[in-house]
Amino acid sequence: MKSDILILGIETSCDETAASVVRDGREALSNVISSQIELHTVYGGVVPEIASRKHIEKINQVIEQALLEAGVALGDLDAIAVTYGPGLVGALLVGVSEAKAISFASGIPLVGVHHISGHISANYLEHRELAPPFLCLVASGGHSHLVAVKDYGVYDIIGRTRDDAAGEAFDKVARAIGLGYPGGPKIDRLAGQGNPEAIPFPRAKVNENAYDFSFSGLKSAVLNYLNACRMKGEAVNEADVAASFQRAVVDVLTEHSLRAAEEYGYDTFAIAGGVASNSALRAALAEECGRKGIRFYYPSPVYCTDNAAMIAAAGYYEFRRGAVSGLDLNAVPNLKLGDT
Ligand code: KG4
Ligand code: ZN
Repeated sequence: MKSDILILGIETSCDETAASVVRDGREALSNVISSQIELHTVYGGVVPEIASRKHIEKINQVIEQALLEAGVALGDLDAIAVTYGPGLVGALLVGVSEAKAISFASGIPLVGVHHISGHISANYLEHRELAPPFLCLVASGGHSHLVAVKDYGVYDIIGRTRDDAAGEAFDKVARAIGLGYPGGPKIDRLAGQGNPEAIPFPRAKVNENAYDFSFSGLKSAVLNYLNACRMKGEAVNEADVAASFQRAVVDVLTEHSLRAAEEYGYDTFAIAGGVASNSALRAALAEECGRKGIRFYYPSPVYCTDNAAMIAAAGYYEFRRGAVSGLDLNAVPNLKLGDT
């Protein structure tokens, strides 16, 4: 295989229209993200129909910009990698159809990528030395997974969420406090001014699998606390609520991750997904990993939340092992990790 493999990544699974050119799976030459957050804020969450329509409007522009910024012509590309699941079906279809159209017209190979595989691969973009095997915590708006990364693109799920994903809990609690969407960054900021030990919110345990997560009980506990205060006419210290909630999520994510690393014998640990940009989570994991002598990797915030560079990075390793998709590639909204 020639050196300098150039991959165009395309990501449209939720509310970001993104395209990026990545060299050899490790170096982002461009990373263009058109966020729809402002459009969805008035509704308090992502509206699927609006997301699809906006992706259609933006996709060509975003791809052109990604090629321009990378200084790469379409003809220089070795493959086009696109997220085909999981995600919102109408949103995914825009990226998949676009990638298929370009592939068909230009003859450039097409590679379908799992969104979570993309999140994990975001770590390859800034850490040249990072290579499997390692343990990865993926915490985003839709997923909380503890994943054993056995090889590039080869995954074993050790633990998963039973109900709400970590990011979803952040978003719902932020909404209840009145902070708006998306809640994660807002809670992160407000928590800095609060006392994380002010309110003893629960840390849920799942009996059947000690590595699974459950965040809906914690979310309900916060909502009950807020309701009780309001009914009693007591003032709510929002910063304390944010800090105490965040500490409960961070404690659970950190405890599960470190215990899994120990039991499965991993000395390398990475985090990925939107919640991986949380400052308290990064600090807690850095400290615990430091104490246990585990190498700890995390992407820059721009590569934690949805982007296309991570899709191109994952696509590079699929392409290298010959996992090229046909033009019958379809969007799979509930695609499981390992179904690829
Ligand atoms: O990975 P992502 O962009 O999309 C999905 O694949 O779901 O993650 C978005 C999620 C949202 O729930 C958002 O609130 C959360 O990541 N998030 C954060 C932070 N930044 C984004 N959660 C906690 N702290 C943050 N700093
Ligand atoms: Zn995501």
